[in-house]
Amino acid sequence: MVPNLKIGNITLSSPLVLAPMAGVTNHAFRYMCKKKGGVGLIYSEMFSSYAIKFRDPKTISMLDWTEEEHPISAQIFGGDPETCAIGAGFLESNYADIIDINFGCPVPKVARSGSGASLLKDLSKVAPIISEVRKEVSCPLTVKTRLGWWRGKSTIAEFIKIAQDCGVDAIAVHGRFAEEKYTGSAHWDSIAEVREICSVPLIANGDVVDGSSCLKLFKETGCDGVMVGRASHGRPWIFKHILHYLQTGEILPEPSFKERIEMAREHNQILRQFHGDRRASKEMRGVVAMYIKGFDHSAQIRNMIMQSKSTFEIEDILDKLISQI
Ligand SMILES: Cc1cc2nc3c(=O)[nH]c(=O)nc-3n(C[C@H](O)[C@H](O)[C@H](O)COP(=O)(O)O)c2cc1C
Repeated sequence: MVPNLKIGNITLSSPLVLAPMAGVTNHAFRYMCKKKGGVGLIYSEMFSSYAIKFRDPKTISMLDWTEEEHPISAQIFGGDPETCAIGAGFLESNYADIIDINFGCPVPKVARSGSGASLLKDLSKVAPIISEVRKEVSCPLTVKTRLGWWRGKSTIAEFIKIAQDCGVDAIAVHGRFAEEKYTGSAHWDSIAEVREICSVPLIANGDVVDGSSCLKLFKETGCDGVMVGRASHGRPWIFKHILHYLQTGEILPEPSFKERIEMAREHNQILRQFHGDRRASKEMRGVVAMYIKGFDHSAQIRNMIMQSKSTFEIEDILDKLISQI
């Protein structure tokens, strides 16, 4: 059971989508997911439209996608329609294939600026943003949202109508309210209700961890695509495994400890190449921990990585581990 996912004029090779994740879905991680296979669409980290407008260097450094990553969806957030359009136009001119607007982020920094999920508190602000961006970009346009802001008070039906009327090409729904953040279980039944009223491709999101949960989400909601976030951390092979399960019903064996260390080593090299040693070595502390989670001695390895001072030292530690296995 492998549905076709087409967004605007872009036909994706698989209906599996890597979720946008700030601090995670940078070039190195996206590249690892693409290399392992199975993923049809990858998202960038979210770009502040204000930061793009003022050419904030850190934000501009997030324009890190390469040829082999396409198609890529670049996500913006913002509360001002004109600024959102500027941000979206800039990302399209930097070869993003799809522009996504974030209507789902509940993080205080984003919500306080009148962006992300906070826009769900006042839906009259939604149409002007989508319309301005729609006018600005000619590539496919999508939105990613939640069921509403307040727990139990769904505004998703009204949101879907607005987004469709403004001409979006697909909608991704994380089946939680913003107030719930990541607590409890995603409300897949509510995503199924969205399916009834959604006339553009629907990407369902929330709590998929493997092939069987993905198949269940497809079946229970009738969605066209499934987006995976947290379960991909340190597991870039997850999309290949899920796709294989959807195609055959077979569960592929998880990579060995050695294979995971080798992947962490490659991730380390790509991060260094793209973001320099300083930034990469900081980030790799968390990244290695994700790759080795659950294995014997993972705490010990994590401690060694925490004490390392550069990505070259990290590479030495990983090389020694590989030679010992
Ligand atoms: C570390 C982290 C960063 C995230 N950053 C973003 C973001 O920048 N934009 C966004 O729309 N959602 C963001 N999300 C939400 C995810 O895209 C996704 O909706 C959520 O994790 C639920 O999916 P999952 O259960 O598969 O993890 C983030 C989630 C995490 C865990």
